[in-house]
Formats: sequence, structure tokens, C-alpha cells
Amino acid sequence: MTNPLPAWSALQTHYEQIRNEKMRDWFAPANDPAPTRAERYTYTGGGLGADFSKNRINDATLKLLVQLAREAGVEKRRDAMFAGEVVNPTEGRAALHTALRATEPDAPFHAQIAAERAKMAKFADAVRSGAWTGYTGKRIRHVVNIGIGGSDLGPKMVVHALKHLETPEIHSHFVSNVDGADLWRVIEDIDPEETLAIIVSKTFTTLETMTNARSMRDWFVQHGCPESALAKHFVGVSANPAEVVKFGIAKENVFEMWDWVGGRYSLWSAVGLSIMIAIGPQQFDELLAGAHDMDKHFREAPLEKNLPVLLGMIGIWYRNFFGSQSYLVAPYSEALHYLPAYLQQLEMESNGKSARLDGQFVDYPTAAVTWGEPGTNGQHAFFQMLHQGPTIVPIDFIAVLTPEHPLGDHHPKLLANCFAQSEALMLGRTEEEARKVAGPDKPELVPHLVFPGNRPTTTLLVDALTARSLGALIALYEHKVLVQASVWNINPFDQWGVELGKILGKVVEADLTAASADVKPHDSSTAALIARARAALKR
Ligand code: F6P
Repeated sequence: MTNPLPAWSALQTHYEQIRNEKMRDWFAPANDPAPTRAERYTYTGGGLGADFSKNRINDATLKLLVQLAREAGVEKRRDAMFAGEVVNPTEGRAALHTALRATEPDAPFHAQIAAERAKMAKFADAVRSGAWTGYTGKRIRHVVNIGIGGSDLGPKMVVHALKHLETPEIHSHFVSNVDGADLWRVIEDIDPEETLAIIVSKTFTTLETMTNARSMRDWFVQHGCPESALAKHFVGVSANPAEVVKFGIAKENVFEMWDWVGGRYSLWSAVGLSIMIAIGPQQFDELLAGAHDMDKHFREAPLEKNLPVLLGMIGIWYRNFFGSQSYLVAPYSEALHYLPAYLQQLEMESNGKSARLDGQFVDYPTAAVTWGEPGTNGQHAFFQMLHQGPTIVPIDFIAVLTPEHPLGDHHPKLLANCFAQSEALMLGRTEEEARKVAGPDKPELVPHLVFPGNRPTTTLLVDALTARSLGALIALYEHKVLVQASVWNINPFDQWGVELGKILGKVVEADLTAASADVKPHDSSTAALIARARAALKR
């Protein structure tokens, strides 16, 4: 695996030097008497803390990783993004999600963003207060966000995370899948007269969203809502307002986003309307403020102490030098249940690429498989593999120090498990220790009781799950993705890889629903699947 940057080859040499070193030795009093390791490798930024000390890093590693970030031009790319330069050249676009949370009046598109935000706030307040009613005069009690990918995952994740800040008057629902079961499970239980649908799609052409939007419209009409009153129940969010109006949504109910906001970076825009309705405009501002805190930290902190840079570069260390295939995000927080799913799109749609910016193909791995599940649930499912499987999976633990619920002794138990897991993964259990646990009668158990340890983890610390801290956490990961893209020399803001399946999907759909069996030529496997499904669909 090669990358021409000098720090890359220096890191390869360094890896050979430290790959067999044990973190438990680095932490041992003999080597760290003060002790200072935790302190030396814990950094703060944007109101968050990050303990990197249980990683396979020493001072030399960090120095080389930061050197690599510099050589890769991380600072230049970061500054170009904030300045609104075309950092997405394959689509000829800027990527200005940071402008959506900027407070500086000279930030790009400041006036335009403020105007749209004010329109959102007016609407959200009207829905929240009950001033906006359905066509029969009932207040809105159900908001159904219809969107997919970036038009779903961000708002869904945030609304779930901040449920403790949600107005009790309104229930938020998220429908994304073209599987009709997704929409059906929501609408079968709610009253159309009390329902508002927000159709969110940057392009307003996405198959899943448009199919769900049409079914939702039919549902309103079938339940007695006159076509002329649909405006009371439908709003649209898009960068393609003409298409929204064509769909039948009143012009004044269209909220705009812009082509310089990437789908997976869009929850800060009108795409976050469902968030604003759930938690209110003031808390939405807090979310933005948290992201802005992290933006400032990313721009101003030296790379050596810069959280997105360190998180990103340590990820590169495992992916490109240790060869790890996947990385796990384990929030010890039920509120952050949807964070891993959100990060899957952010990380893998952004950086799961092979073509470099110069048109050459990479010969080193890019985005790792991102996966995750809240703790402690994961411990009772897949942690076995993390502790004793032969592959190394780096982990980001996320611990929220103050609970957002009043229940007694749950929180110390939750935190204890989070911290204990990272300790166990780091320490492992030696053969000698295992022998003691097995006892003299069961020597055959010893190999099963050995834990290799030396498994790297980062622990992110959040004081309390507020709109502000959540904003900072999300922005941390957004910037981490940019840092890694810079080192891999790829464009994190396009997604050409989703196109081919969509094109073929249309062909297959036509073949599935065509009146005659005279379908287009396909490989024998696809043809047989189509034939089986055609027969089933006719039943
Ligand atoms: O197909 C992938 C994708 O384009 C994502 O990048 C995007 O977030 C999602 O589909 C939804 O797109 P839209 O907001 O245009 O409906």
C-alpha cells in the first residue's frame, strides 16, 4: 500500500517498530510512574473531550500522523471548504454545511440562510403552538418526515437523541423505505386531520421519497381531505423547488436548501425542519451553535490538539497501517441509537471511493466499514468477537456523563460498563492470568480464557446530551471525514457509486411490472429472480 507522501513511508517504518508493543506496558507504573499517559493523550474541543490514550500510539506516532495531515494539505482543504471554494469538483460545487451554522455576518450566503431559517422558525412555531391546523381545524399532532439517506438519517438521529427536549404535543415519525410497510406502519395508527407530512428530498426525484409522498397524498385524499386543502398537510424541502411545486405543494410551503449543501451534511438546513418542529427554533439554534463550536475548534486549534484531525488520523493509522477492515462506534447512550446508522452514510458514502481527485485510482484502502450499536446491548451480541476474534476493530466509545432521565442507579452501571470495556480491551488477559482463572483442574480452558488485549479504543466524553453538545459531536465526525479524505486524496462530497444500481433498478422495475413477459435481457440469475417475482406479483 503506497501513498507518495514522506510521512506515509515514515509511518510504515514506525508501524514495524511499535506493532508488537503493548498498551498495558505503556500504562504500567514502571513506564508511566506519575501516571501521565491518560492526561497526555486526552484533548478537548467544542465542549467535548476525547481520551485517545487507549490507542496504539506514542508521541512519535502522533507526530508522524500530524505530519502526514500537514503533507496531505488538510489545512488547505479545510480552509477551502469554509471559504466556499469548489471542493466537490466532480459536481462543480462547494460544500458549505459550515455556513449553515456560522454566526459571522461575512460567512458565505449569510443573508439567504438567515431568511430561510426565519421562515422555518415561523412555520415551526405555528405548528408547535397549534396555530397551524389541519383542514378540519384540528391541531397537528403527528409530523411525518418522508425522505431517505441524508434527508432522513440526520433528522431522525437528532430527534431521537433529543427526545427529552421534544414538545409533548407532537409525535415525530420518519418514513424512508420504499417498502410500503414503512409508511403503512406509521399511517395506520394516525389521524390524517392531525398529520403534517414533510417531503424532504434535495433532488425531489428520489424513487423512495416520491413513491412514499404520492402514497401519503392518496391517503389524505382517501380519508376525505379535499385536494384543495392538501396545502394544510404538506410541505416540501428541496434544492429543486420547481419540482416540489409540480408535485402539488403550495409555493409558500416550500423550504429551500441549496446545491452547496450535501445530502448527508444537510440536517443543519431546512432538511432539519422536523427537528425544529420537535425541539423548537431556540434549541435548533443551540444545535447549530454546538456545530459552530466544533467548526471554530477545527479551524483554530493546532493540528496537534485538534479533535477532528486526531480522530481522523488515528483512524488512518488503523486502516492504512494496521489493515483494520472496519471500525465500530459504540455510543453508551440509548438516545444516540441512530448515530451509527447516520455515521455509516457520512463515512462510507463520503469516503468509500477508489478514484482520487487527480483521476488515478488509489492503491491503499479508503473508508473502513462503519458499524455500531448502543452499549450495553452490543456487549451481549458482538463484543465476544471484539475481545477474542483474530481481527482488530478500533472502537469509538461515546460516554454521556449526565443522564437525561431520572432513573436511579442506571447511569453508573451504564458508564461503568463503557469504561470497563475499554479497559478490558486494552489490558486483555495473559496466559498466566488465564491459568489462575482456569484453576489447576481445567488447564484445557486456558486458551479460551486468554484475551489478546491491545485492542484500540477512543473514548469520547460528552458532559450531557444537549442540543449543543450533539451539534458538536456531529460536526466532529463531519470534519473527521474531511481529514481522512484529504489524506486519501479523494472527494468526500460526491456519491457516483449510488448511480448504477438506481439505473438498473428502473429497468428491472419495468420488467417486473410489464404486461408481457418479453423482458429485457439480463444475466441468468437476475432473469430467474425477475421471473419468480413476476409470477408472485400476479398472484
Ligand atoms: O442515493 C444516495 C443519495 O443521493 C444520498 O446521497 C442522499 O442523501 C439520498 O440519496 C437522498 O437524496 P435526495 O435528498 O435527493 O432525495
